[in-house]
Amino acid sequence: GFLKSLGAASLIVPFSGATVSADTSTSAGTINTFKVPPLDFGQRSGDTLSFNLQLGVAKTQFFKGVNTSTLGINQSYLGPVLRAKRGDNVRINVTNQMGVPSTLHWHGMVLPANMDGGPHQEIKHGDRWTSEFKIRQEASTLWYHSHQMHQTGAQVYHGLAGLFIIDDDSSQQLGLPQEYGVDDIPCTIQDRRFNRDGSLSYIGSMHDRMMGMEGDTILVNGVVTPTLQAKRSLLRLRLHNGSNARTYQLAFSDQRNFQVIASDGGFLTAPVTINSLRLAVGERAEILVDVSDQKTIQLLSQQANGGGGMMGMMSRMSGSSEAFTIMTIDAKQAQPSTHAIPATLRAMAAIPNPKASIATRKFDLQMGMGMMGGGFRINGKTMEMSRIDFQVKRNSTEIWEVRNDSPMAHPFHVHNVQFHILDRNGKKPTEIESGLKDTVLVQRDEVVRIVMTFPEYSDAKVPYMYHCHILEHEDQGMMGQFVVV
Ligand code: C2O
Ligand code: CU
Ligand code: CU
Repeated sequence: GFLKSLGAASLIVPFSGATVSADTSTSAGTINTFKVPPLDFGQRSGDTLSFNLQLGVAKTQFFKGVNTSTLGINQSYLGPVLRAKRGDNVRINVTNQMGVPSTLHWHGMVLPANMDGGPHQEIKHGDRWTSEFKIRQEASTLWYHSHQMHQTGAQVYHGLAGLFIIDDDSSQQLGLPQEYGVDDIPCTIQDRRFNRDGSLSYIGSMHDRMMGMEGDTILVNGVVTPTLQAKRSLLRLRLHNGSNARTYQLAFSDQRNFQVIASDGGFLTAPVTINSLRLAVGERAEILVDVSDQKTIQLLSQQANGGGGMMGMMSRMSGSSEAFTIMTIDAKQAQPSTHAIPATLRAMAAIPNPKASIATRKFDLQMGMGMMGGGFRINGKTMEMSRIDFQVKRNSTEIWEVRNDSPMAHPFHVHNVQFHILDRNGKKPTEIESGLKDTVLVQRDEVVRIVMTFPEYSDAKVPYMYHCHILEHEDQGMMGQFVVV
């Protein structure tokens, strides 16, 4: 199933599937100590920071004694957390040793199109691709993942993803928790489904194909529902929804409040106190949670799917709308933190004033509901690598009006920009959604308007993508391409 799901005609790396020594459908022990992903600061020479990433096939133990076939980047599942600073010139060498073609895309990064790692920057087995760009944006938690045409879902599902943290001078002066792995902790949340032999199960039904691939087992940084032993009483969690399809409604088991401090593209103007946060596929949020009461709490998803419509109906039918645990935080040993929650985080972001003179582009997200389940389209069209859907002018500001004409919610993502949400069905966004975004969930029957200024990079030949970030929808064509000229 693994090879087939990756579409491999011939895999060069010998590969024999999962080795079974335990039945994961029973209470066979999981290996559930929280894992802090390795940090990669690159190698500095002059003003260039170089990273070397290798995509490979591996085996990972998600369950004790059970080897599961996975894909990884410099490790067996997922990749290191890349870290660079605004102003750095980064050079990332990506070598593909997977036996099948792939790409690596820098999600949320503002950069020239030929460095973006989209479907046009394919890396064949054995080849090396170098992506080089200057980091111009502010402190934020971005990520990277495979963007191989028609194979993004399968490749990300098996492990081709990681985080990319950008720092800047002002972010480091805010007095926020920032000791990596101690009080500043990345959490990549993914749901997976395992076969009885321990192998990952990918797309088993028309339901998976239509709704996107959802699993019944939660991984955080590649560990099944782990327990984090908190070392400090104030924790900063960099929450990242790295799932293929599932939207989470995150809350703590005792409904305690927490502060949201950052969205996809950077800090909010001030911390926002809430007790429940929706995170769709591709989105990130940084939160602060106070565990000075030294309790043991769970981070839960209150409801499997964000909202009503078909998704809500399906999840109610399958009984998956109950709360389930993402991870446990045990704060018994938490030492008092020297950090406090800051009152403000940044000056008000300048949201371009939506004047009549700004061009508005319209996007209709559409799903064919026929027996074949096909027909994932934007404006009536299925993605084609050879078709450029439109051009935008460099340095121009545009409003994109995204309408969901389908029975389920879709997280809409645009490459090469961080945008602001203007409104949802005419209503202003919440404070949490007022910051910089690169992915926005568009509910059924909703019209979301976003506004963004395209950077100065231009290339009439190499396109950027916009698409639904439910990876099975993207793979089936709910994606388009634009060039900046
Ligand atoms: Cu996160 Cu086009 O990708
Ligand atoms: Cu992207
Ligand atoms: Cu979708």
